[in-house]
Amino acid sequence: MPPILSIDDLRTLAKRRIPRAIFDYADGGAYEELTLRRNSADLDAMTFRQRVMVDVSHISLATKFLGSPVSMPLAIGPTGLAGLFHADGEILGARAAAACGIPFCLSTMSICSIEDVRAATQQPFWFQQYLMRDRGFNQELIDRAAAAQCSALMLTLDLQVLGERRRDPRNGLTIPPRLTLRSAFGFASRPGWAAGVLFGKHRTFGNLVGHIGGASGISTLAEWTQTQFDPSANWRDVEWVRSRWPGQLILKGVLDAEDARCAVAAGADAIVVSNHGGRQLDGAPSSISVLAEIVGAVAGRCEVYFDGGIRSGQDIAKALALGANGTLIGKSFLYALAAAGEAGVTKAIEIMRSELRVTMALTGTTSIDALGPHILRQ
Ligand SMILES: Cc1cc2nc3c(=O)[nH]c(=O)nc-3n(C[C@H](O)[C@H](O)[C@H](O)COP(=O)(O)O)c2cc1C
Repeated sequence: MPPILSIDDLRTLAKRRIPRAIFDYADGGAYEELTLRRNSADLDAMTFRQRVMVDVSHISLATKFLGSPVSMPLAIGPTGLAGLFHADGEILGARAAAACGIPFCLSTMSICSIEDVRAATQQPFWFQQYLMRDRGFNQELIDRAAAAQCSALMLTLDLQVLGERRRDPRNGLTIPPRLTLRSAFGFASRPGWAAGVLFGKHRTFGNLVGHIGGASGISTLAEWTQTQFDPSANWRDVEWVRSRWPGQLILKGVLDAEDARCAVAAGADAIVVSNHGGRQLDGAPSSISVLAEIVGAVAGRCEVYFDGGIRSGQDIAKALALGANGTLIGKSFLYALAAAGEAGVTKAIEIMRSELRVTMALTGTTSIDALGPHILRQ
């Protein structure tokens, strides 16, 4: 096997290890995938300013997220269905993150439930939810997150309706994955995955058991989203969540300076500048292209995290240079998880850590606080 040196190497390995429908579910975006591609293209187009003869013998990547120490400015963002990429995927992700000293955020749409992850891990994790029409279910999830001692609640704002990801219906993705004539070849050629996931214990939405009725294919997920996610949700509802959750609140999916100001007014402790990895509004700007403007609008009143296209420690440096306090990964985590489970996720984090350290050294930077626009060529 060739050496694993980059996130792209993990992506290549993931493609070989899991069925196409699952790989594409992570890899794809909405409609024509314009925004998905922009996320990476705009990061790639940025240029570092190389500096020499600066003493970089001591470099620290340590920083704080919401007052808690982290070993580097990175968190694993919420991704639905991570447990289909590897058996117990959410548990493995949470363990790898904890061992590496970074936060893990569990999605409401996970395969392992909040309670499964809590029981299998030592470190507190973050929990993400959406606004549902049934606020009783939101309250129930808040209570479950509190009972599991989750250290922050992340409310995702950019999914009042579901963006159409065309690869999924084209691939016939169903949840739980079903053995059909169409899927048989894909599953049979991935025996390791099939043994762990297809015939494993957890195969459907762990947090929704009892709330998602009857047959549960992806069409049911789309229908479920349509009937359960609240298209009328507005900032007053965000304030409602704020009043119910006593801990740190992170608002995710902000892509506009005006919305960032509203998020601050609604009581956010942090926001995530995000276009959902290009999976929602196709044609929206890349996350990196709006980051500086949003950091300016927030003006230090809450922390600003960034996601969308982070595939390397160099990308982390670029986001921090433009004012982000930290970064989140979605796809990079799932590729790593599919490629090699917990060891794969650890590998991904260590690759990014090393890339960030070297990039800081070669731009003459020794601490996270010292990263700024001066490390970029304008
Ligand atoms: C397969 C997949 C599932 C996702 N599920 C969720 C989710 O359940 N909740 C959420 O807030 N964001 C979700 N996201 C978005 C990520 O949290 C994150 O915003 C995005 O992946 C960042 O872009 P990146 O994939 O380029 O790193 C998902 C992303 C992917 C790729």
